[in-house]
Amino acid sequence: MRCLFLVVGLLLTCQHSLAKDGNTKPNVIVIVADDMGFNDVGFHGSNEIPTPNIDALAYNGVILNSHYTQALCTPSRSAFLTGKYPIHLGMQHLVILEPEPWGLPLNETLLPQHLKNNGYKTHAIGKWHLGFFRKEYTPTFRGFDTHYGYWQGLQDYYKHDTHATFTNEVGYDMRRNMEVDWSAKGNYSTTLFTQEAVKLIKEHDTSSPMFMYLAHLAPHSGNDDDPLQAPDEEIAKFAYIKDPERRIYAGAHNRDDDQSIMHTAHSSAKAIANCDLRPLMTTLVHRGTTSHVSTLDCRN
Ligand SMILES: *[C@@H]1O[C@H](CO)[C@@H](O)[C@H](O)[C@H]1NC(C)=O
Ligand SMILES: *[C@@H]1O[C@H](CO)[C@@H](O)[C@H](O)[C@H]1NC(C)=O
Repeated sequence: MRCLFLVVGLLLTCQHSLAKDGNTKPNVIVIVADDMGFNDVGFHGSNEIPTPNIDALAYNGVILNSHYTQALCTPSRSAFLTGKYPIHLGMQHLVILEPEPWGLPLNETLLPQHLKNNGYKTHAIGKWHLGFFRKEYTPTFRGFDTHYGYWQGLQDYYKHDTHATFTNEVGYDMRRNMEVDWSAKGNYSTTLFTQEAVKLIKEHDTSSPMFMYLAHLAPHSGNDDDPLQAPDEEIAKFAYIKDPERRIYAGAHNRDDDQSIMHTAHSSAKAIANCDLRPLMTTLVHRGTTSHVSTLDCRN
């Protein structure tokens, strides 16, 4: 349930998101990796699980080693979306457990609401964990135009059901906005969330700027009966790790870096390239990525 998170922010500017007042508004993509170990990324010295895409973003961006987050999901997400310490929100205690009827207070204005007021299209993908006991607490009532993902703190990576932490309730938890989305069943979370991010970036109408909050499940544990889950082809890359559980964790972790960060950055670069903004695109390549992105033909 601990939820240290790695936040990767991409600030992308595109000529076509010129605001009415003449200011250029950057597109903002925030990618959250859930429970990723501090020492499990290359830029903090790990040589066990390669994270070339995260490292490239880090080395070409800003690494905030003296900034601290709350060590749990609900308080840290509350702080991130409000800009306030959880103790000022009543969100400082543990996390919202599955059957509990509480959430981030409705009188708080969240980051996506402020951005929407400034002309942004706003999308949330993946984990919420800020309350769902009444619909008013869920993402599309709190400033996000769209949400694809789950409302609770964790789930099975393939079945997408959540087993309550201290009681016996089990329930399916994948939604597209307010509708239950059964089509996710059987597919791996990181793949689903990355697909959604890439689709939204591709389809984005660049006449307005975009804010995307991409909050992954990985590498957080799944349900107690099967806490570590990764696709076989990811696990196979880590045959050199002796501990079988650590090997699966590495696989989940790697999917975040390899698939999500790489593809999201890749599509963002493409979206920008399509805006004919070469200098800023170059900035992204500098800021952003590894050989994966630098092989893009940016002149399209
Ligand atoms: C929301 O309501 C609580 C409880 O009345 C209060 O402490 C808090 O300051 C309010 N927040 C805002 C932004 O008004
Ligand atoms: C789930 O995976 C299957 C098999 O790869 C694919 O056909 C299907 O489109 C996927 N569903 C979603 C929602 O991505």
